[in-house]
Amino acid sequence: MHVFMYCAMHAFVLFCFQQFMQFIWREYGMPTISFIQPKGGAGKSTSALILATELAKGAKVIVIDADPNAPIAKWSSRGEGTSNLEIIQAGKEDSIFDLIEEAEKKATFVIVDTEGVANLQAAYTISASDFVIIPSQGSALDQDNAARAIKLIKDQERQIRRRIPHAVLFTRVNAAIRSRGMAAAESQLAEHGIDVFETRIIEREAFKAIFSFNTTIDHLNSAQVSGMDKAKTNARAFAREVITRLKSSTGQARQQAVGAV
Ligand SMILES: Nc1ncnc2c1ncn2[C@@H]1O[C@H](COP(=O)(O)OP(=O)(O)O)[C@@H](O)[C@H]1O
Ligand SMILES: [Mg+2]
Repeated sequence: MHVFMYCAMHAFVLFCFQQFMQFIWREYGMPTISFIQPKGGAGKSTSALILATELAKGAKVIVIDADPNAPIAKWSSRGEGTSNLEIIQAGKEDSIFDLIEEAEKKATFVIVDTEGVANLQAAYTISASDFVIIPSQGSALDQDNAARAIKLIKDQERQIRRRIPHAVLFTRVNAAIRSRGMAAAESQLAEHGIDVFETRIIEREAFKAIFSFNTTIDHLNSAQVSGMDKAKTNARAFAREVITRLKSSTGQARQQAVGAV
């Protein structure tokens, strides 16, 4: 009986999630979400893949891997991938605008993972995004680089004359200890009125393992990796918060963009 209730509840939650995503799709068009942070190792690719696989449970998702090291494209080619999720590797000569435009025609969500560099490609990606996520480990160095990313976003906003919704995502957060660096980072961001995700991506073996085993969190073997349930809950909370944030900001941003034409 308990098992039945659990399955029914799970199916219901999934159904609601899918309905919600369909609603986003109808109301706001296909949002493009990009991960920007000039510092390497901050958790861009990992968080992008966590979000992509989570959203792909209920919608068609395309990830544009715009990092020449191609971590997500390699993940996809070495593993089995997952249905509903397509990975496009951006070539050196490709226009990121063309890639995003094409992907938006085919998918409900487009996710762009970028190289850890504040270059023209990053600026273009920001200007074509409906939402920018800035992963940050909460260290002083990551914080400085998050500030560079925000400066880049502000510059793009001035250039294209529309608001580009964005928020910092704390990543690789220690589950047990709230570090002093993190507390300082939080108050610094609050002082500057910068939006921060309530959900933090915790440092978990499962999140590392998706790349080591070229698989998704749901397909990891719980005998090989510990803390799987917590990782799944964390991934789900992150995807939900992204959807909620898109719902409140994308419509405005799109309307503003349309109004500006
Ligand atoms: N939440 C996490 N838990 C555990 N390891 C993580 C997490 N996020 C990132 N890592 C690890 O940190 C390293 C850098 O992460 P990555 O996502 O490649 O960063 P970036 O794309 O910003 O360079 C990788 O080895 C990755 O496995
Ligand atoms: Mg990366």
